[in-house]
This record gives sequence, C-alpha cells and structure tokens, in this order.
Amino acid sequence: MLNIALPKGRLGDKVYKILASIGYDCAAMEEDNRKLLFENEARGVRYFLVKPSDVHVYVEQGAADVGVVGKDILLEYEPDIYELMDLGFGKCRLAVAAKNDYYEDTDRPLRVATKFVNVTKKYYASKNREIEVVRLNGSIELAPILGLTDVIVDIVETGTTLKENDLSVYEDIVPVSARLIANKASYKFKRDAVDDLIGRLKEKL
Ligand code: PRP
Repeated sequence: MLNIALPKGRLGDKVYKILASIGYDCAAMEEDNRKLLFENEARGVRYFLVKPSDVHVYVEQGAADVGVVGKDILLEYEPDIYELMDLGFGKCRLAVAAKNDYYEDTDRPLRVATKFVNVTKKYYASKNREIEVVRLNGSIELAPILGLTDVIVDIVETGTTLKENDLSVYEDIVPVSARLIANKASYKFKRDAVDDLIGRLKEKL
C-alpha cells in the first residue's frame, strides 16, 4: 500500500483528480461524504485527507509515505522529508503587503502580522531589519487595517483579498507551488512504488 496524504480543499481535489487519471483512483474519494481515509486495495493506494499545514507531519512521521504540500509550508516548518517534485500548480507567492498608502518608518522595528513566523524572521534577518512579529492564524489582512501591525507576510494568489481590503504587495519574498514529498524511510523501502508514482506524474504533467 502506498499511503498518500492530501491537503483538504481545492489543492487536494486537484491533486486527487490527477492521481486518479494516472491509475491511483479510489471510488470512495469521489463520493460526497465526510470520510478522511480512503482505500483502493486493488490499486494498492490509501489516501488521508488532512489540513494543508499538517501534510508534512504525517509524512515526516511515516503515517503517510508521500504527500502533496505547498512550498510555503515546507519553508516555514522545514520538515525532515524528501522534496521529490515540483508539481507546477498551486502557484502563488509569499509576499509582504501593506495599506495602499503605507510609508515605512525605518527608525523603528517593523511590526509584521503573519502565520509564517519562521519565513518572516528569516526574510527580515537577511535584510538586517528589526521586526516585531504578531502571529495570527487567519484573516491576516485585518492587522494593518486596524493598526495592529504595519505590514503582513502572507500568501498572495490572485491578489483579490488584498485588493478588496485596500492593501497591496509591498515586497515579494518567494514564489510558491505544490510539491510532492516523501517520508525518508518510505523512499528507501517503497522506492519502486514511489518511483512509479513520480514517473506517471511526470508523464501527465
Ligand atoms: C489565503 C491567504 C489570503 C488569500 C490570498 O487565505 O491567507 O488571505 O488566500 O488569495 P488571493 O490572492 O487569491 O485573494 P486562505 O483562503 O488560504 O485562508 P486562510 O485565511 O485560512 O489562510
């Protein structure tokens, strides 16, 4: 059995469709239900649906052999896994954003709201810029609007969320896309199954 952790939501749906089309289909995944674990014994595949920011935990711990996760999550948590392939979709970027009329006061530490605390600290350390981080879990865009922070570091995909909240990108940090990752032991002991998956994915993509 190849155990695959998929992120719940749009990205996971897209990945499943691709995997199903290259031989890793699982009928129960296509039903409208609230199940989290799906198996197709004949195909030798088992899927887990997990929160996007948990995929790497299942893979690192070996509960899943492989998984699909955004590069943003890998940069933030730096899990001890193999990053096998850039899937080339789920494209977005990590960026600094601020109010449209923002003007940076470089005489004091920059106040930054984000879910990506480690990425943020590294980014500003590389610029020798002193910061104060406010860790938030969502709706980050509110922070500069309410004066909680000067800027945010967050994912920008279409830019709609920023635009609709009168914010704009101040600096780009790094481009992001979906990555196939593998547990290190699984990659050794299930090498044929993992290589077969990579081969079919490459052909398809
Ligand atoms: C992400 C991110 C932004 C939004 C950007 O939020 O935090 O709010 O998407 O996308 P856009 O540029 O296409 O508008 P997500 O929907 O993943 O929810 P979250 O707030 O829980 O992170």
